[in-house]
Amino acid sequence: MTFAKHVAIIMDGNGRWAKQRMLPRAMGHKKGVDAVRRLVRAAREMGLEALTLYAFSTENWKRPEDEVSALMGLLKGFIISDLDEFAANNVRLRIIGDYKRLPADVAELIEGALARTAGNDGTTLVVALNYGSQDEIARAAAKAAAKGAITPEAIEAELDTAGLPPLDLLIRTSGEVRLSNFLLWQAAYAEMLFVDTLWPDFTPEHLQQALDQFAGRDRRYGGR
Ligand code: FPP
Repeated sequence: MTFAKHVAIIMDGNGRWAKQRMLPRAMGHKKGVDAVRRLVRAAREMGLEALTLYAFSTENWKRPEDEVSALMGLLKGFIISDLDEFAANNVRLRIIGDYKRLPADVAELIEGALARTAGNDGTTLVVALNYGSQDEIARAAAKAAAKGAITPEAIEAELDTAGLPPLDLLIRTSGEVRLSNFLLWQAAYAEMLFVDTLWPDFTPEHLQQALDQFAGRDRRYGGR
């Protein structure tokens, strides 16, 4: 049995969840934040070392302006409401992606949250914001080249995820079966799980089932 230390989730299906109920898309995202909150608590209780969530991609800027600003507002609200809980429970926040290009008020809140939780060594909550894997790999390769060695190890050391445990399990909700520019490098040996559940309906029980399934899988890393 192997226990997963690092789980990443592509949180998909907020829009469809809302549509099924004839609600505005923003309501789906709001319920999505409730699911995030439940999952972070569960990850901490289950003793995961890292939980990485795909919250906003480099491509998500193409969405209508009101949806982008609703997502930014939810992100801000989430940090404001949950930061005390992270601080009290040894959760460390980390961001992957170029969050400095987010609206200044959001970026500032993030800076404060990073600083406040930097000394925590329990579960790391990694939020992917303005993140795209190809962009991350290109930036890492450029840094590695500037230091003189373009090897897999040198690139890996410059990725936004440097220092996190290797990715064990990547989950995507809502029935879509693609990676959408998320953790392409890190997923090299990760197990993948695609579930039909829409993100707002994803519960700690679903996470537990995924972890149980992972524990039963035989990972060979190319060997036999
Ligand atoms: C995909 O659903 C979801 C997103 C693009 C955003 C995910 C964001 C959150 C859950 C909230 C903010 C995050 C945090 C960490 C507080 P979709 O809109 O693509 O759904 P659809 O495919 O059904 O339209």
